[in-house]
Amino acid sequence: MQDLESLGMEKGLLYETIITTQNKNGVPNAAPIGVICKDKNEIVLNLFEGTHTLENIKTNSKFVVNLLKDPLVFVGCTTGDLSSDYFKKHDNEFYIKNTDAFFTASVTRIKEIVKEDNISKSKMTLIKANVNKIVIKKEGVEPLNRAIFAIIESLVYSTRIKMVNENTAKEYLERIHEMSRIVNRVGSLDHKKAMHDILKYIENE
Ligand SMILES: Cc1cc2nc3c(=O)[nH]c(=O)nc-3n(C[C@H](O)[C@H](O)[C@H](O)COP(=O)(O)O)c2cc1C
Repeated sequence: MQDLESLGMEKGLLYETIITTQNKNGVPNAAPIGVICKDKNEIVLNLFEGTHTLENIKTNSKFVVNLLKDPLVFVGCTTGDLSSDYFKKHDNEFYIKNTDAFFTASVTRIKEIVKEDNISKSKMTLIKANVNKIVIKKEGVEPLNRAIFAIIESLVYSTRIKMVNENTAKEYLERIHEMSRIVNRVGSLDHKKAMHDILKYIENE
């Protein structure tokens, strides 16, 4: 049977996806949402209060996770509503027509939590869900994880840091530390080790 491994999703990593849901009147909605792969058949979402996605998931207890890299879909559903042309139905649930792959998920647990960092405190809802049906639409599907991009950006800055003035070097270092924060949140052990090595390299330069 197909599971998240067949989509290239690894346990413990967070992937950037487009989640499609529908409201109580059957109107489709799409939003970029991070999906944490908990196990071969289990995922977790952390949703901010006030999103349509959270409201629709609470209403229907199910949703669709779309794996794609189309920049216009990511931007289109963040800056406004995607037109109905983008959606297609599968077993009464909406997915994104040009997605590389999608899977349906059903909610097993909803828990409200408060996330706090040194800047803010926000109410979030944690959604645990089981993976049901997986549909692969294109060959070579690759789920989107930000860690490798953050590592490459950091590496580029690390090679430029010696060429720039002190203020710019400080700015680059801050950016690298921000990238490191991302990698630690979304990446694998190898990603984290690579980032750690970049920071060590900069320190020793
Ligand atoms: C790459 C990316 C990842 C995101 N991940 C999340 C997430 O994990 N949880 C969340 O609540 N919002 C997340 N957001 C923000 C939502 O997509 C954004 O609030 C969106 O407008 C919600 O749309 P909706 O009201 O139609 O559900 C993310 C945004 C981007 C661009």
